Amino acid sequence: MTAENSRTPMDWEKRFADDSTPWERPGLHPAFEHWRDTGAFDDAGSVIVPGCGRSPELKAFAALGKSAIGADLSPTALAWQKSSLEQDGLSAELIEADILLWRPDEPLDAAYEQTFLCAIPPRLRTEYEAAVFDWLKPSRKLFALFMQKAELGGPPYGCSMDAMRELFPIERWDWPEAEPVAYPHPSLNGKPELAVILTRR
Ligand SMILES: C[S@@+](CC[C@H](N)C(=O)[O-])C[C@H]1O[C@@H](n2cnc3c(N)ncnc32)[C@H](O)[C@@H]1O
Repeated sequence: MTAENSRTPMDWEKRFADDSTPWERPGLHPAFEHWRDTGAFDDAGSVIVPGCGRSPELKAFAALGKSAIGADLSPTALAWQKSSLEQDGLSAELIEADILLWRPDEPLDAAYEQTFLCAIPPRLRTEYEAAVFDWLKPSRKLFALFMQKAELGGPPYGCSMDAMRELFPIERWDWPEAEPVAYPHPSLNGKPELAVILTRR
C-alpha cells in the first residue's frame, strides 16, 4: 500500500525500502522483556502487534507459543518479518492492511502497542481505540507504550497521559493504579515511552 491510497501522509513503505527507520530498537523492548519475564503475557493465547514494522517482538510472541498476528501497511516490513520468522522455524499471521479497518473473526487475548499509536495521524486515534476495543475479548489486555513528546507535529506524535486517559475512557478500559514506568527510547532523542497495561471492559 502506498501513501497515495492509505490514510496516512507518511510513506512508510519508502521508509523501510530506504532503511530510514530511527524508531527501531536494537533488540526487544525492555518493557516487553519485563512483561514477559513477570508472566504478564502468560494467559494470552493470541496477540496482535499492530504496525509491527520490523520489530522483533512479533517473533518473540511466536517463540512464546502465542498465536501471533503482525499487521502493517508496508510489504517490505512484512517480508522482513516473514523471513525472520522462517529463519527460526516460527510462524505468525501477517496482515498487509490499514489495520484500523480490520476486525478478527474471533476476538483476541492481547494487543501489543509499540510506536504505532504515536505514528498515526492524531485524527485517527479514536479509530484506533475502537479497533483495539473490538479486537479484544472482554477482560483482555492492551500492552501499551505511550510516546511522550512535548513538541507539536510528528510522527511521532506525543501521547500525553491526559490525552490517553481521554482516548481510553474508564467506561471502556480499566487503568492500573500504579504510575507507569518510563522507558527512554535509545534513539528519538531519548523520548520516554510510558508502559501501561489497559484492560478492556
Ligand atoms: C514508527 S513505525 C513502528 C514500527 C514498529 N512498531 C517498531 O516498533 O519498530 C510505525 C509502523 O506503523 C505502520 N503503520 C502506520 N499506519 C498503519 C496503519 N493504518 N495500518 C497498519 N500499519 C500502519 C507503518 O508501516 C510502520 O511500520
